[in-house]
Amino acid sequence: MTDQNALKKAVAAKALEYVTDGMKLGLGSGSTAEIFVELLALKVREGLKLTCVPTSERTAALARKLGITLTALDDLAPLDLTVDGADESDRDLNLIKGGGGMLLREKLVAAASRRMVVIADESKLVARLGKFALPVEVVAFGHKSTVQRLAATLDALGYSRVAITLRERDGETFRTDSGNVIYDCALGSIASAPKLAAALDGVTGVVEHGLFVGLATTLLIAGPGDIEVIDRA
Ligand code: A5P
Repeated sequence: MTDQNALKKAVAAKALEYVTDGMKLGLGSGSTAEIFVELLALKVREGLKLTCVPTSERTAALARKLGITLTALDDLAPLDLTVDGADESDRDLNLIKGGGGMLLREKLVAAASRRMVVIADESKLVARLGKFALPVEVVAFGHKSTVQRLAATLDALGYSRVAITLRERDGETFRTDSGNVIYDCALGSIASAPKLAAALDGVTGVVEHGLFVGLATTLLIAGPGDIEVIDRA
């Protein structure tokens, strides 16, 4: 196991401490969240009773394969807890998510949860968000005109000449689980995540963006030898 995988496993195991019998639980997406799902499945096999909502088709397939009971979000919300990964987090628990393209369902599930525990290795903790390109999910219809509004919005906030790239996978335009496309915005450094999030919320054609502000309640960060627990103030 690589060092980074060992850290992901350690932090996923720590997140199990937040799960109690009978919970309604959101299951995140990405490699760290998948390790959590695998560890959770072992507890389920030992008798832990849970009802879970997945944040992606990929997580749903994994959970089903491992014998975890899944339900639709609308049949279960509000959830007690969601456990998910992140691409970046600052110490105020503002996040960038969506590296795997699942940000829309991840945000819907997190927003419907009383608590969100974020699990990550130390490489994800940053002083200021933005080195990781911000994913913005856009309706496929007219997406090239939406991206012009997106660029103008960023420009008006002082993020000028930002490289905005239509995401591809295997040489094709990437489509999310909901059939939308993603533009990755190389911002470099985000001065105010809440201000940027509010501006992006107002761009016609933008379905959702990867800034998660005010959603995470606890951040677990794994470094060699220990796991730092940061609770929202
Ligand atoms: C998926 O869309 C993302 O939000 C993931 O949660 C994020 O990319 C973290 O993934 P890893 O745990 O694989 O780094």
